[in-house]
Amino acid sequence: MAGTTHTLTLIPGDGIGPEVTTAVVSVLDAAGVSINWERHDAGLVAFETTGHTLPAKLLESVTRNTVALKGPCTTPIGEGFTSVNVGLRKALNLYANLRPVKNLPGVASRFANVDLVIVRENTEDLYAGLEHVIVPGVVESLKIITEAASTRIAEFAFSHARREGRRKVTAIHKANIMKLGDGLFLDSVRAVSKRFTDVPFDEKIVDAVCMHLVMHPEQFDVLVLPNLYGDIVSDLCAGLVGGLGVVPGANHGAGVAVFEAVHGSAPDIAGRNVANPTALLLSAIMMLRHLGETDAALSVQAALDAVLMAGQVRTRDLGGTASTTEFAGAICAALASPSSSTIG
Ligand code: NAI
Repeated sequence: MAGTTHTLTLIPGDGIGPEVTTAVVSVLDAAGVSINWERHDAGLVAFETTGHTLPAKLLESVTRNTVALKGPCTTPIGEGFTSVNVGLRKALNLYANLRPVKNLPGVASRFANVDLVIVRENTEDLYAGLEHVIVPGVVESLKIITEAASTRIAEFAFSHARREGRRKVTAIHKANIMKLGDGLFLDSVRAVSKRFTDVPFDEKIVDAVCMHLVMHPEQFDVLVLPNLYGDIVSDLCAGLVGGLGVVPGANHGAGVAVFEAVHGSAPDIAGRNVANPTALLLSAIMMLRHLGETDAALSVQAALDAVLMAGQVRTRDLGGTASTTEFAGAICAALASPSSSTIG
């Protein structure tokens, strides 16, 4: 609710996480939103101080506050360190990952008129992390698909489409090969579609959809996918509108929401103050809407759009030379003086 002080959990994360979260917090501050941040480390940093990658105090904080803003967390490849991101989603039952992918004003990309939403199932599939060595040289990774989780994500996708007045929902699958697993996912989405007859529905095979997305992305609207396809197709879609630096996301569960960008901790550019904070800022705008801070969401969006349109202050991924701090500073200046920021 506007006018109240919100107590929210802030998870800075690893790599570029602390840089982009600091930038976003400065913008929300400049927008005049009253937030009391409870800061909690996760991942390697938390492990070094508490012995846990997901400390109980962090989970208690998110459960109590019901809303968190999260930077990316590194998951080292190989054995011995399970993903903090997957762990957080499982621990808080954040079953729906919502990722709007839309052209931004002034940001050049291969396509115009991209305006789609990825709804990714967040709790099962190959992300269940159930793998074992059968005999040396042979590994089995278990893909878990349940009717309950598939129905729940389909209901989320259709409800979102109806509430936001979207054009259609497309189920993405590989049921021609994984007849039981993806077949169950597809049958569950089909069953839910019959309860939402006002929302047009179609279905596509995941490999074909990748080809169609890179040729005619404007034909897609809400995509509902099992976990792994959702992960891969999200990055593909980010590439349609300017890259990982500009695509936001939200993880929703029953009464709890964690807002985070699609991108990871970007170790290749971490610590250099060059990361683009736009993706996390757009996630924060989604968070403001969720909190009922509609005016603040609109003014932050307008300030971001104005800075991007003006084109003078841009991070390297968008062809500019500005640092993370300079870009955030330009948005804060645009918030302080809305009309002057549109001069390009
Ligand atoms: P990544 O998304 O971190 O980076 C991929 C490429 O995009 C890199 O070249 C990076 O420099 C660039 N990039 C990403 N975000 C950017 C930004 N805001 N501004 C400018 N350039 C940006 O993916 P990668 O390298 O596969 O993963 C790195 C780590 O992040 C891994 O440990 C992975 O597990 C973790 N990860 C965490 C996620 C999360 O916390 N939700 C999501 C995805 C990956």
